[in-house]
Amino acid sequence: MDQNRAPLLEALVKYAGSSPLRFHVPGHGGGRGAPEDLLGVAGPGVFDIDVTELPGLDDLNSPAGVIARAQELAAQAFGADRSFFLVNGTTQGLQALIMAAGRPGGKLILPRNSHRSVVGGLVLAGLDPVFTAPAVVRDFNFAAGVPAGEIQRAVRDHPDACAVLCAHPTYYGTVGDIQKISGIVRAAGIPLLADEAHGCHLYFHRSYPAGALRAGADGTVQSVHKTGGSLTQSSLLHLKGRRLDEDRVSAALKLIQTSSPSYILMASLDAARRRLALHGSDLLQALLEASSELRAELDRVEGVEVFGPGRLDGDAVFDYDPSRVVVRVSALGLTGRQAAGWLMSQHGIYVEMADNDNIVLAPGLGVTREECRRLVRGIKDLADREGKGSAPAAGPGLGEIPPARAAMRLREAWFAPSRPVEIAGAAGTVCAEWVAVYPPGIPVILPGEEVTAEMVNYLTRAREAGAKFQGPADPGLDWIRVIDS
Ligand SMILES: Cc1ncc(COP(=O)(O)O)c(C=O)c1O
Repeated sequence: MDQNRAPLLEALVKYAGSSPLRFHVPGHGGGRGAPEDLLGVAGPGVFDIDVTELPGLDDLNSPAGVIARAQELAAQAFGADRSFFLVNGTTQGLQALIMAAGRPGGKLILPRNSHRSVVGGLVLAGLDPVFTAPAVVRDFNFAAGVPAGEIQRAVRDHPDACAVLCAHPTYYGTVGDIQKISGIVRAAGIPLLADEAHGCHLYFHRSYPAGALRAGADGTVQSVHKTGGSLTQSSLLHLKGRRLDEDRVSAALKLIQTSSPSYILMASLDAARRRLALHGSDLLQALLEASSELRAELDRVEGVEVFGPGRLDGDAVFDYDPSRVVVRVSALGLTGRQAAGWLMSQHGIYVEMADNDNIVLAPGLGVTREECRRLVRGIKDLADREGKGSAPAAGPGLGEIPPARAAMRLREAWFAPSRPVEIAGAAGTVCAEWVAVYPPGIPVILPGEEVTAEMVNYLTRAREAGAKFQGPADPGLDWIRVIDS
């Protein structure tokens, strides 16, 4: 196959260049019916290729032409047996994988800090979670991968589990010992699913940790929009081997995916794949050099610490993506959130994410050394002007999340009648919603779990420290929805 080709993008360019008389949806008619201000900012080219399933442009729900060929090229570039284009992010792909891996009443082994899309997948599939505990990196206080021994135990204690899921890499860029984990999962005869939302670039340069598929995963989903250069919402799902039924994955995708997939997003996947296949190694080399310089410069700033090789443990923190830079600022007497706010207001620097202790930087493909130097100047300025040296008024740490106990099945609880109660008086009820402190988004409680006094205390302290919540209907968490029993 010829990785120089981008069949879908080429077909769209050909269509747009043929001066088509557009009597089809989308109704903006290639721009003539679009709001002028949007047309001005987005440019006419975007509207030219925003089309529907026209002759010659194939159909994502039943691909047989240019989309099928573009997906085959993606499979070859990533070393997969079969690849699928996704237009609703990795969220959609993880949910489809989970729906294909098991049947209602089955069990999925997964990290407690799984992304919320995974919780959604469990609800859709009717699977019960078997949670494993991620390791927490000392001082930085962020959750990394799950120790291999913990997965071994889960597989042994739950021989009826239908699959194991791991995040590779995590949002913080760390990877666990996935080779070892895949050996354990393979020995148990079940598939290993990878949430590779932050890892599509790992396949194109040897100095980065190996991609999940190469390390033995059976199915993986990647937000190409996060690290591969495609547009937001565009992702890839890859399968390798026979442990997952590709027809079931395909059927699950069709069930939950729009019938009007964006050709702009799909073309961006085709173009990003072509560029990664042809130039990924050079682009990632440049990114490696820029981020290595960034790390070295930040290491010299007094009062901040950059997560690096000294923190690896040979297990749950086995390796890390050099292009994801976690900077601990708490020794300056600031929370990561405060530091991020200051960098934005004083220097126009927008970080990827911030938590109690850290800011997380995601320099992407094409980042320049000058941009990195500007960032370093901003962080030096932060340390000089804002560093207080005393402990920040941070919220409760990850290690303090109280243990959870399921009183009802997740799916049952999600569908059960519920009512709002004031958070202060919620202890003793059963939760009907999902509540995580974000970032990093580890659920403190899930639907069907008992609300304990410790949980109420944890969530209240997090709220007082200015944390944001993901999941609850009331984002301020004055109220929480509980099962109406
Ligand atoms: C670890 C992880 N998994 C899955 C997702 C979902 O990806 P997407 O936004 O492409 O749906 C995210 C998004 O932030 C994520 O961080």
